[in-house]
Amino acid sequence: MLKSIRNGLREEVMRVELKDKIALVTGGDRGIGRAIVLELAKRGCNVIINYHRNSSEAERTKRDAESYRVRAWLLRFDVSNRQEVRRALSSLSSKIDEINVLINNAGILGDHFTLEEIDDEEWDRVININLKGAFIMTQEVLKYMKRGKIVNISSIVGRNGGTVGVHYAASKAGLIGLTFSLARQLAPNILVNAVAPGPVDTSLIPEEKKKSLRKLSLLDRIASPEEIAHAVIFLIENDYITGSVVNMNGGRYML
Ligand SMILES: NC(=O)c1ccc[n+]([C@@H]2O[C@H](COP(=O)([O-])OP(=O)(O)OC[C@H]3O[C@@H](n4cnc5c(N)ncnc54)[C@H](OP(=O)(O)O)[C@@H]3O)[C@@H](O)[C@H]2O)c1
Repeated sequence: MLKSIRNGLREEVMRVELKDKIALVTGGDRGIGRAIVLELAKRGCNVIINYHRNSSEAERTKRDAESYRVRAWLLRFDVSNRQEVRRALSSLSSKIDEINVLINNAGILGDHFTLEEIDDEEWDRVININLKGAFIMTQEVLKYMKRGKIVNISSIVGRNGGTVGVHYAASKAGLIGLTFSLARQLAPNILVNAVAPGPVDTSLIPEEKKKSLRKLSLLDRIASPEEIAHAVIFLIENDYITGSVVNMNGGRYML
């Protein structure tokens, strides 16, 4: 935290200098989460990399983060399971003083896209991981965060619907509501924002769909995970943005 003198008043500025801070990224082992982990590590930020099943990707991302000479820890847990989250965080509590940044990134698409095909069980699974997971993570990480930044990874479909399942779109719209509400409740010490990407080049989207999705962008391509990570870093490094949703969709949806 920087202290500055302006107009004779001492003003506390909550600048997050990322170097030597600690960030937790859910679903940080691959895709957008991995890109965020590596952008944080490049800036000297220590990283807690959560993953669910993919331990080989998690080990690879940990090694790559450590190549930037930061500390990296792997935490395996299901974001929708509060007991697992608590156990994992307490296993780290003797090694870290606080967590400065939380990125709620973990998410799944679900198995079906049409309304008729989605049953209660699939609805609950998608909402529990994508939305309840961010709620659980925020409550549990706040125990370790006095001042800091939270970024939720929403989606264009949370604002505009789309050719995905209603459960996925509802979860991503819910994340936007969660972002607004948390921004109000946690200010001024914790700033909360969201990023709403259009299609991104990760394994979440089947390869055969990527071509048609490309055409929906004014830029004739889908985003790279690194481009999303850069927007996340911008939000973390800024000290006057809270309660905002950054659209990243190549001009497909304007607001
Ligand atoms: N790709 C896109 O076009 C796009 C567009 C807009 C928004 N998004 C959002 O961006 C986020 C990341 O997506 P992505 O494209 O990087 O997807 P991805 O490559 O499929 O990665 C998903 C990540 O979430 C983790 N995860 C899944 N279920 C979990 C659980 N229960 N607990 C903890 N971690 C869990 C996975 O861990 P494991 O590897 O261990 O399974 C993985 O790290 C998601 O929230 C997604 O909805 C993606």
